[in-house]
Amino acid sequence: MKHERLLANGDRLDVHIMLPGEDRGETPDHLSIYHFLTRPFDPWMVATEAAFLAKFISGTADPSLADTLLVARINNEIVGTAWHATDFKIRDLGGYGFVFTNPDHRGKGIAQVLTEMALDPFWESGGLASYLGTMNPIAQHVYTKNGFRPLNGLVMRAVQPGTESEDFDRTYLRRDGDGVIRDIRLGDLAAYTHLLLTTATGGWIVRDYTEAIFHAPPSVEAGGCLRPFYNTFANHETNPNNTWKVLENNQGRLTASVNLSALSAGPLSKSATLEFQIAVDYHDRASTIINAAIEEASQNGLREVRATAISQHRQEVLHESGFEIETVRHNEFQLGPESDSNAASTDVTIMCRHLG
Ligand SMILES: CC(C)(COP(=O)(O)OP(=O)(O)OC[C@H]1O[C@@H](n2cnc3c(N)ncnc32)[C@H](O)[C@@H]1OP(=O)(O)O)[C@@H](O)C(=O)NCCC(=O)NCCS
Repeated sequence: MKHERLLANGDRLDVHIMLPGEDRGETPDHLSIYHFLTRPFDPWMVATEAAFLAKFISGTADPSLADTLLVARINNEIVGTAWHATDFKIRDLGGYGFVFTNPDHRGKGIAQVLTEMALDPFWESGGLASYLGTMNPIAQHVYTKNGFRPLNGLVMRAVQPGTESEDFDRTYLRRDGDGVIRDIRLGDLAAYTHLLLTTATGGWIVRDYTEAIFHAPPSVEAGGCLRPFYNTFANHETNPNNTWKVLENNQGRLTASVNLSALSAGPLSKSATLEFQIAVDYHDRASTIINAAIEEASQNGLREVRATAISQHRQEVLHESGFEIETVRHNEFQLGPESDSNAASTDVTIMCRHLG
């Protein structure tokens, strides 16, 4: 789909909107979009993210992801890009990223135009919330004009116009049935990100220890948005022991996630790390889903699983799932700002489950 927009300075912006599953490929044109975004001589994204981008552009990504790629040109030269993705079935949560404007064309309103074009159809089709992460104040300014607000650290979220952010967190993951366990899929990108970054954590500080995502406001904040999903998904794809199970409620919403991560080879391959996020209304389902993930991995010879907890309740949940305390790292987790050496700190408890 092609669109034309006149910018304030008089330039004509030609925007190619590549809808889910459309216009993807591996032609030189597609390669030039990939190079425009990854900046081989001035890289700004991690390798895992660039590998996913290659799949999105080439059309080789799992079709469970419904992603729209916007490419803006002036006089046939690529000047800006943006990308928005939802699940192919449940399209109410989105992830926004790969927003880049050619330095020579910045300040002309290109990111603004692309953000509107990416998000308007999402809201119109019933979108409820979209997530992004950035530390760039200029990007934050553009996103704020488009309804995004700081959520947790560098994470910003826009909720459907007319909705309150706090109400959204309280209501979206409400109990609706016991939930069905299934494997993760690429289309869960935004739903997983929501579960990871929700402010309704039930007091659980650890969100993903491996990815260093914690929630202990006001001073401990998330340092990643979509990146934890990309890293964990890549890890999951490379080793059958790295099982990743999610719990889907009656509305198809992701209410729990459990993933295991073991090194793929060598003497540590029988020992895995467990990361999990459970919506408060589904805490009673924690053991069932944790056991499902471990059970599958144990068929491949997994011998021990370790997980980290700070809050008492998270420790209890792990205990119910067969974990025992292995180590307590006293005062390891600093609750105040990094600059404050006198800030309060708390213990980090490592729990382990040995498999038969
Ligand atoms: C962030 C970025 C995408 C903005 O792109 P852009 O096309 O220049 O953005 P726009 O022209 O739509 O809007 C820029 C806004 O910032 C303001 N601004 C302030 N300082 C600016 C600067 N040094 N350069 C450009 N704009 C600046 C502009 O005035 C404008 O605001 P206004 O419309 O309210 O006047 C671009 O700077 C970029 O590619 N940065 C590197 C990649 C990045 O950080 N991406 C976002 C991460 S997801």
